[in-house]
Amino acid sequence: MTIYFQKTYQRSFGTFPLKGNELHEAVQAAAQVGYRAFDTAQMYGNEAETGAALKATGLPREDLCITTKVDIANFDDARFLPSVEASLKALQIDVADVLLLHWPPADGDIAPSLKMLRQARDRGLARHIGVSNYTARMMRDARAIVDVPLVTNQVEFHPLLNQDKLLAAAAETGIPLASYCSVARGEVFKHPIFGQIGEAYGKSAAQVVLRWILQKGVSINTMSTKPANIRANFDVMDFTLSSIDMGRIEAMTATGHRIVGKDLVPYAPDFD
Ligand SMILES: NC(=O)c1ccc[n+]([C@@H]2O[C@H](COP(=O)([O-])OP(=O)(O)OC[C@H]3O[C@@H](n4cnc5c(N)ncnc54)[C@H](OP(=O)(O)O)[C@@H]3O)[C@@H](O)[C@H]2O)c1
Repeated sequence: MTIYFQKTYQRSFGTFPLKGNELHEAVQAAAQVGYRAFDTAQMYGNEAETGAALKATGLPREDLCITTKVDIANFDDARFLPSVEASLKALQIDVADVLLLHWPPADGDIAPSLKMLRQARDRGLARHIGVSNYTARMMRDARAIVDVPLVTNQVEFHPLLNQDKLLAAAAETGIPLASYCSVARGEVFKHPIFGQIGEAYGKSAAQVVLRWILQKGVSINTMSTKPANIRANFDVMDFTLSSIDMGRIEAMTATGHRIVGKDLVPYAPDFD
């Protein structure tokens, strides 16, 4: 349950949309600066390359926290467990540290896929299970459907989007949030406030944004192809934003900039 609260695993390296040499190089750079949590998904089409890249780091398997996600196309009794087995084979691992449902199903009926996820855990295919892109209501409903802890709801989370309803649901259900699009795919850099705040701490705009996410009680998932950015994104544990700066950043959530919505993902739920 506490997996993402372990200091190292609070910072996960995302692999979407990386492939080929770019993925390989990024994973090596991430491992070198200290990342031990890595995030992939069936939908990314890069599980095998991620598995090979992680092998090439030489890191002991027990140090790694590997997350993958089941594609909604596999939310079917016949396909779910075989798809997870195929993911593990591609990743060259026996068990996923964290197995997530990538999206709620298009019809909004979350029970069947949650039960299949639970089965995957029971079969020893996953150490921990969780969800992604769930709404606050789905988080509350999920608690009643699954009788083991869901270790995360991985959602879009950055200072340009107010996610108070999800934070409230996280507090109520005990399902912690993890971020994706943590720097809003670069959109945060259009707002000078993050860099200005960073000056007082000797930190960059990206580091301020990531630190704000952590101080909201949300673990972070970032992706970068550049070694300097990869290092900077990991280097966010040695400063604390003041409550005043937290509040100044909080005010930016009124921007309401959502990246992953129905225009990108037509089956996305009606987000809070
Ligand atoms: N569960 C889901 O449905 C879902 C959806 C989307 C993403 N994800 C996961 O979350 C991960 C991260 O999200 P994301 O990649 O979509 O968005 P993101 O992390 O907000 O943005 C990545 C982009 O930001 C740039 N960047 C990263 N760090 C930077 C820094 N310190 N300074 C300047 N630019 C920086 C990167 O460019 P450079 O390469 O130039 O540094 C890259 O283009 C993904 O890789 C994936 O694993 C999950």
